[in-house]
Amino acid sequence: MVSQIRFLMCAPDHYDVDYVINPWMEGNIHKSSRDRAVEQWNKLYNVIKDHAIVDLVAPEKGWPDMVFSANAGLVLGENVVLSRFLHKERQGEEPYFQQWFAENGFNVYTLPKDLPFEGAGDALLDREGRWLWAGYGFRSELDSHPFLAKWLDIEVISLRLMDERFYHLDTCFCPLANGYLLYYPGAFDSYSNRVIEMRVAPEKRIAIMEADAVNFACNAVNVDSIVIMNKASDGLKSRLAEVGFQVIETPLTEFLKAGGAAKCLTLRVTEPVREELHANVSVESRVVRMEGHLLDAGLINRALDLIVEMGGSFQVLKFNLGEQRQSTSAAEVRVSAPSHDVMEEIISQLIDLGAVDLPQDERDSKLEPVLQAGVAPDDFYVSTIYPTEVRVNGQWLKVENQRMDGAIAISQTSSGIVAKCKLLRDLEIGEQVVVDVLGIRTIRKAESREQRNAQEFSFMSSGVSSERRVELVVEQVAWELRKIKDSGGKVVVTAGPVVIHTGGGEHLSRLIREGYVQGLLGGNAIAVHDMEQNILGTSLGVDMKRGVAVRGGHRHHLKVINTVRRFGSIAKAVEAGAVRGGVMYECVKNNIPFSLAGSIRDDGPLPDTQMNLILAQQEYSQIIQGADMILMLSSMLHSIGVGNMTPAGVKMVCVDINPAVVTKLSDRGSIESVGVVTDVGLFLSLLLQQLDKLTSPYVANVG
Ligand code: ARG
Repeated sequence: MVSQIRFLMCAPDHYDVDYVINPWMEGNIHKSSRDRAVEQWNKLYNVIKDHAIVDLVAPEKGWPDMVFSANAGLVLGENVVLSRFLHKERQGEEPYFQQWFAENGFNVYTLPKDLPFEGAGDALLDREGRWLWAGYGFRSELDSHPFLAKWLDIEVISLRLMDERFYHLDTCFCPLANGYLLYYPGAFDSYSNRVIEMRVAPEKRIAIMEADAVNFACNAVNVDSIVIMNKASDGLKSRLAEVGFQVIETPLTEFLKAGGAAKCLTLRVTEPVREELHANVSVESRVVRMEGHLLDAGLINRALDLIVEMGGSFQVLKFNLGEQRQSTSAAEVRVSAPSHDVMEEIISQLIDLGAVDLPQDERDSKLEPVLQAGVAPDDFYVSTIYPTEVRVNGQWLKVENQRMDGAIAISQTSSGIVAKCKLLRDLEIGEQVVVDVLGIRTIRKAESREQRNAQEFSFMSSGVSSERRVELVVEQVAWELRKIKDSGGKVVVTAGPVVIHTGGGEHLSRLIREGYVQGLLGGNAIAVHDMEQNILGTSLGVDMKRGVAVRGGHRHHLKVINTVRRFGSIAKAVEAGAVRGGVMYECVKNNIPFSLAGSIRDDGPLPDTQMNLILAQQEYSQIIQGADMILMLSSMLHSIGVGNMTPAGVKMVCVDINPAVVTKLSDRGSIESVGVVTDVGLFLSLLLQQLDKLTSPYVANVG
C-alpha cells in the first residue's frame, strides 16, 4: 500500500567520492563504482516507491553529494529551514535545493551566514510529531537550534554528537513510529544520553551495538511498520520484529563510502504539524568578557576548549589583541549551552578563568535562604580556591575564608553585609547562600609574560616533574624556604609516616629546629613512628640503622603509644625526657603547633590525636591560616585535605613516590603548585644539603 507520505530524492548521476569531509570518505576518493551506485540507488528508490511517493530534484554536475537529499533542509508542514553547509564542498548545493522548495510551494527560511545547519541530516522529528531532536557537535551549530524552534514552532531537544564517524544525527539516531527509538548510545555524550532516556521510556528504546551502527542501521527510512536500511544483524532484525517492525535491507555500500545510506538519500517532505504544540527551546546563551594575557597565558584556548568539552558552543564576538608585549588582550565570547544546567557548569568553570559579565549585563548574585542548618539550597555555587567576589545589592563583596568545596554564605552583620566561604555543615538557618552562576567573579591578576616567568614555580607550570628535575625543584624550594624564613613568613609541613620510614625524620627535625617550619600536620602514624625511632631505634619494627626487622619489633609502636599515653601527651613525654629527639620533639621544644588527625586504622591513639574529624579539620585550617608555603610530604589523605582548605596564592610543593597523588594536587591548576615524584627521604636530604649551601659563608674559589 502506498501512503500519502512523500520523500525527496536526487538521482546519483554525478555521485562520486571527490573529497574528504567525513571519516568514511577517507581512502575512498574515486573508489566508488558509478554503475553499482546507480543500481543500489534505483533499488532503494523502488523499495520506497512501494510504500510512499517519491519526488525528485534534478542532480547537478559538480555537486557529488547532492544525492544526500536529507541535507537539503528540514521540513515541517509548509515550512522548511534551508541547510547551511559547514563545508564549502557542499555549499553549492544550497541554491538548487532552495529552488526546489520554492517551486514546490514551501515557505523557505534561511539561517544567518556562518551558522551551519545540515537539515534533516541533523534534525529528526519524533515520529509522533511531539518534538524535534536536533544534533550538534560536528556539522550543525547549537545556535541554529533556537531558529528551528522559532520558525517551525516546535520544541527542540539538542543532542551532542561525540564520535566523528557519526557526524550527522541521522547516522546514529532514528525515531520510529509509535514512539520507538532506534539509536546508538555510544555516539552521544553522557548528558545527551540522559536527555534521551528522560524522553523515551526504556521499553521504547532500541539501543544498537557498534557493529550494526557502522553498517548504518540507524540511517533508516521508516514508513509505518517498515524500516528500510542498508543492513541489519539478525539480532537487530528480531528485536525490531518483536515490536512490530519489518526490516527491509537494501545494500547501499557505494554510498557508505561517502558516509551516507538509506536515510541520507531521502528527505521526508510531508511532516504533519501538530497544532497544539509550540516552540520551546532550552538552548541558552550568555556573553562573557575575558581580559588579561589571553594568548600568552593560554587562557582563551582553555576557555574555548572547556566550553566545547562541556557540551556548549561559542562565538567569539570581539577580540582585541594587545599590541605591545606588556599589553593585555580582551575578548567577548558568546557561550551557548543546550540547557541551563550545562550553562551553569560551563560558566562556573569560566568564572575560575576570570570571565566576567559585560558591564551592562552585570546582575546581583542569586541568593536562597538556608532552610535547614548544615544543608545548602540545591543549586548552590561551589566555591573554588580562587579569590572570589559576589555582587549583592549592586556592590561587589570580597568573599572571606576562600577555600574550595564550600558554599558562599551572605549574612548581615553589625559591620554590614559579609560574604564568606563556609562548609556545608556550618551553614546556619537565616543565612543566604549564593546559587546559580550570576553575579560571581574571580579576581585574576593579569601577570605579564615576564612576571609569570619570574614566578618561583612557573618553570614547572604545575606539571609533574620527572626524576631528573628533582634537583631543580629542590633548589627552588630551598631558595623559597630561605626567603620565607628571612622575611618571617610561614611554612606548614604535612607529613606522612613514610617520611620516617625513608629516613627523612632527621632532616625534617632539622628543618624544624632551624626555624624553617611554622606548623606541622599529620596523622597518628607519623608521630608514633617518629617517637618509636627516637625511643627504640626502629620504625614500625625495622631497625633504622641496619634496615632489618627486629624480632618482636612489630609491637614496638604500641609500646611507644603506651608510654606517651602514660605521660598524657607528647609534650609531657618530651618534658619528662622520655622522647629525646625527632620531629615531635622539635615541635614541642620549638613551640611549633601541630595537629594530628585521627583515622579508623589508628592504633592507640596517641593522646594528642584528634579523633573528632570535624575538630581535626578546624585545627588544620587554623594552622594553615596565613601560610606562604605548604610542603606536602608523602601523605595523600592529609595533603588532599589541606589542598581543599587552601586558597590560591599559597605555594604548594607535593612530594610523593606515587605520581597519582602528585598529579591530583598539581591539578589545582594554580601556578604555585608543583609536584615532585620521588622518594621523600631523598628529597629531604637533598633539600638540607641545598639549604646548607645557601647558608654557608661564601668561599672564593681562587687558584
Ligand atoms: N558525504 C556527505 C557529507 O559528508 C554524506 C552526507 C550524509 N548525509 C546524511 N544525512 N547523513 O556531507
